Amino acid sequence: METDWNMTTPKRILSGVQPSGKLHLGNYFGAIRQHIALQNEAECFYFIADYHALTTLEEATRRRLDREKIKPSDRADTLRENTHDVALDYLALGLDPNKAAFFRQSDVPEVAELAWIFSTVTNMGLLERAVSYKEKVEKGIDASVGLFFYPILMAADILIYRSHLVPVGKDQVQHVEMTRDMAEKFNRAFGEIFPIPDYRLDRESKVPGIDGQKMSKSYNNTIDLFAEGKPLQKTVMSIVTDSTPVEAPKDPESCNVFALYSLFAAEEEKAALAARYRAGGMGYGEAKKMLLEKINTYFAPARERRKHLAAHPEEVEAVLLRGAQRARAEARQTMSLVRQAVGMKSASVG
Ligand code: ADP
Ligand code: TRP
Repeated sequence: METDWNMTTPKRILSGVQPSGKLHLGNYFGAIRQHIALQNEAECFYFIADYHALTTLEEATRRRLDREKIKPSDRADTLRENTHDVALDYLALGLDPNKAAFFRQSDVPEVAELAWIFSTVTNMGLLERAVSYKEKVEKGIDASVGLFFYPILMAADILIYRSHLVPVGKDQVQHVEMTRDMAEKFNRAFGEIFPIPDYRLDRESKVPGIDGQKMSKSYNNTIDLFAEGKPLQKTVMSIVTDSTPVEAPKDPESCNVFALYSLFAAEEEKAALAARYRAGGMGYGEAKKMLLEKINTYFAPARERRKHLAAHPEEVEAVLLRGAQRARAEARQTMSLVRQAVGMKSASVG
């Protein structure tokens, strides 16, 4: 069920982001921007899903290898680097760690314990219906048990903090529905411990990539959030357009450049550019330059902040540890209730 945001006042919001490579405009407009805005509206918990990223670490390492020519065996480095990158990105883009708890998933290992307990109240059939798992396997990712089990870990992520609302992209909605199912089943079997969480869709429409398909790191069609200078220019100039000649009128609605420009532009600016498309006499190159300028202006402050943070990794680490302490205190309380409810000692020994 999707919550009507205006009708309810949720107590706790939670979301996770996988550290699986460089973040791109699709991630920003589809997820990150909303996460950051929500920190002013409720208590938020945001985490970097490094346990989840282990399920696709081989692919992430391969992508990094293509980019940086590192040794293909450097998987641990890839996970560390990608995790650090996501931390830098979120903080640079405005996540305020004094408002939201921001942490690494693996700094709260209790989620793995809760995932195990949930696995015992989850039918195989539920997991077998997971679309995201099937899609990943179709893309050639190894069907590890971890990849199959992933929705259970996601349910534990959400429920261990007894979250009420989960802002996600469309592809994750099914996982939140599975989470509701697991919470209901657990509550029926062992007592009412978990709220039944709702999802909130970040964005209906997909941000297109430079080739017009959905922007995605697996399609190699991204505009990375912190690209700048020549490489960014090269990417923007390579956005695919049709071959309408400069003089001819053009259709803004079917143009990738226009769709991307619209993400940044005010209504009047969009209308002005649409009018120029329709009038003819403007080439796509000019629209691309306008888009490039928008990207540069919009992300300039975040780029500066990111450079500062990158030079002070100890500050970033301190933020993540502080977030983890807050999150772990919550997780431990929940686990104490859960252990007791299922008939174990309420705290683990030691
Ligand atoms: P990718 O497709 O690059 O692997 P992810 O699946 O890691 O991206 O995306 C993380 C989140 O970012 C998604 O759940 C979704 O909310 C958002 N997202 C990713 N790509 C897009 C896009 N092209 N348009 C809108 N949102 C997107
Ligand atoms: N599976 C999510 C993704 O790929 C990331 C994630 C892991 C998550 N645990 C979560 C999102 C819990 C929301 C809530 O985008």
